[in-house]
Amino acid sequence: MRGRGFLGAIALGLVASLLPSVPVSPADADVPRAAAKGYAPVAPVSALHAALESNLKQVRSWLDDGDFDSAEQTAHGLAALAWLHGFQGEDAWRRKTSALRDACAGLSTALRRKNAAACDRAMRACSDLLAELAKMKPAAPTSPVKDFRPPGPTKTWMLLMDGAYVDGKTSTSSAELERQALVIAEEVNVVTWLRADPRWRKMTGDVRAAALLAAETARKDNRDAARKAFKTIYTRCEACHNENKR
Ligand code: HEC
Repeated sequence: MRGRGFLGAIALGLVASLLPSVPVSPADADVPRAAAKGYAPVAPVSALHAALESNLKQVRSWLDDGDFDSAEQTAHGLAALAWLHGFQGEDAWRRKTSALRDACAGLSTALRRKNAAACDRAMRACSDLLAELAKMKPAAPTSPVKDFRPPGPTKTWMLLMDGAYVDGKTSTSSAELERQALVIAEEVNVVTWLRADPRWRKMTGDVRAAALLAAETARKDNRDAARKAFKTIYTRCEACHNENKR
C-alpha cells in the first residue's frame, strides 16, 4: 500500500529478504507488506457480515424461483465467506463461525439433494448463527495468518466479487457503496493467496488499493467522486482478466 513511509519500506525490505519465495522489487512496491507476512483482514468484520447476509438472501431468492443449481452456486460463495469470517477473530469467535460453516455445508447438501424442507432448516440455522455472530465483538487477530489457504475454486471468489461490484454500482447510498467496496477489498485480499505468482499478487493488490480508496471516498460522503472511484475498481479487475485470457 502507498504511504507506508520510510520505516515501512525498511520493514518491507526486511520481510522480503526473509522470504525469498515472495520477491518484492521496487516495481512491486504496491504489494503490501501484509502479503509477504500472511493474511490480515483489511475491512471491518461488519463488511463480511453484510456480504454473508446478502448471499444468504440471494440463495433464498434462487430457491423461491425453484432454481436449485444457481442456489447451490451461491451457497458455495456463502460457505467461502463463512470460512473467511473465522479469520476475523479468535477463540470464541472461531468456534461460532465454525458452526456457521457446518450450517453452510448442510445447506449445500440440502440444495444438491433438492430437498426444499432441509434447505429451509439449514437456511434458518445459518441466519440464527449470523444473528448470534452479529452480537459478538471479535477481538481483531493479533498477527497475520501464515500459510493461508483459501478453499474453493478461483471462480467462487470471482463470483463473490462480481456480486459485490454489481450491488455497489446499483446502490443509492454512500454507506452501501462504502460497504460493497470494503467487501471487494476483503475478498480480493483473499484472492491474493490463490497464487504465489508475484504478478498475480501485484494485480490483486491493485484491486484492493482501488477498493479501499473507493471506500474512503464514499465515507467522506462525496457521492459523485465515490461512484467514480468505485468504477475504477473494475478497470483493475479487467486488467487482470486481460492478462489471463484463455
Ligand atoms: C489477479 C487476477 C484477477 C483479478 C484481480 C480479478 N480477476 Fe476475475 N478472474 C480471474 C481469472 C483467472 C478468472 C477465471 C477463473 C476460472 O474460472 O478459473 C476470472 C474470472 C472472473 C469471472 C467469471 C467467473 C465465471 O467463470 O463465471 C468474473 C465474473 C470475475 N472474474 C469478476 C472479477 C471482478 C469483479 C474482479 C474485481 C473486483 C476480478 N474478477 C478481479 C482473475 C482475476
